Amino acid sequence: MKRILVIGPASQMLGMRVKVELELESVNTETKIFPDGENYLRINIEDETLFEGKEVIIIQSTAPSAKADQNARILELIMMIEAVKRMGAERVIVIVPYLAYARQDKIFRPGECSFARNILKLINTLNIDEFYTVDVHNPEVLEEISCKAVNINSMGLLADHIRSLGTQNIVVVSPDKGAVQRSEAFARYFGEEIPVDYFEKKRDVKTGEITMKGSLSLKNRNVIIADDIIATGGTMANAIKIAKESGANKIYAVATHALLLEQAAYRILNAGADEIIGTDSIDNEVAKVSLAKAIAQYLKYE
Ligand code: R5P
Repeated sequence: MKRILVIGPASQMLGMRVKVELELESVNTETKIFPDGENYLRINIEDETLFEGKEVIIIQSTAPSAKADQNARILELIMMIEAVKRMGAERVIVIVPYLAYARQDKIFRPGECSFARNILKLINTLNIDEFYTVDVHNPEVLEEISCKAVNINSMGLLADHIRSLGTQNIVVVSPDKGAVQRSEAFARYFGEEIPVDYFEKKRDVKTGEITMKGSLSLKNRNVIIADDIIATGGTMANAIKIAKESGANKIYAVATHALLLEQAAYRILNAGADEIIGTDSIDNEVAKVSLAKAIAQYLKYE
């Protein structure tokens, strides 16, 4: 079956890299906001038969940025899926590198809803054929997708990048006890003997304020603090501060999805990090690692 890639407005760089990896024909989109605030999207084509009988791959992160918030990105995603289906796409593969609302996966206070699952339920109603995301906060939420659903792992690519910097004498630190398993898996990419440790993080569920405790023996070690998401940078900054106090040499703040909201970059670097490393799930200045190869691996024909 012939394939075509639709590159969503939130995944321009990554979309182009996937296009190159898979040698695909691609189209992009045109978006605007109507005077009443409603979102508009059209796929930038002249020929409405372009998608007929084809397998259409749509790539669109749903992260907030200065250009659009996550709600707009989700609506644009739905509009792209609806448009290609209306125009006769035979199969639709959806790639959402960063899945918005994924952190709302649990009930913390009475009266909340588990919205991560609702977002996926909504996508599931669109009758897509395959769904891919990357390092989603809690992979269990993918149960809501009834077609093939894959959580792509970016850790190998991030580790390759850090190794290419020549970094030795590494300790991987999890900023949160709950993320230790992920950090352990990440550390294995640097070798079996790489130590993994964690700080104890608490977040006030009402104010969002973070407190962190821990004293690790990091003297003269190069520390990689690895997380799935950097949002405001509060978690990283707290962890970096403790790592510095514990004698760390170089500190790398590493995350699959470096949203860098508010003044996150300043907060992290000011706390003592030497470098922030993210992937192109978010198209920004710290996207030093491309997910294109990992995504393409799943989509290559056997
Ligand atoms: C939380 O469980 C996540 O894994 C991240 O630690 C968190 O989202 C980071 O948020 P922030 O950068 O605002 O502290």
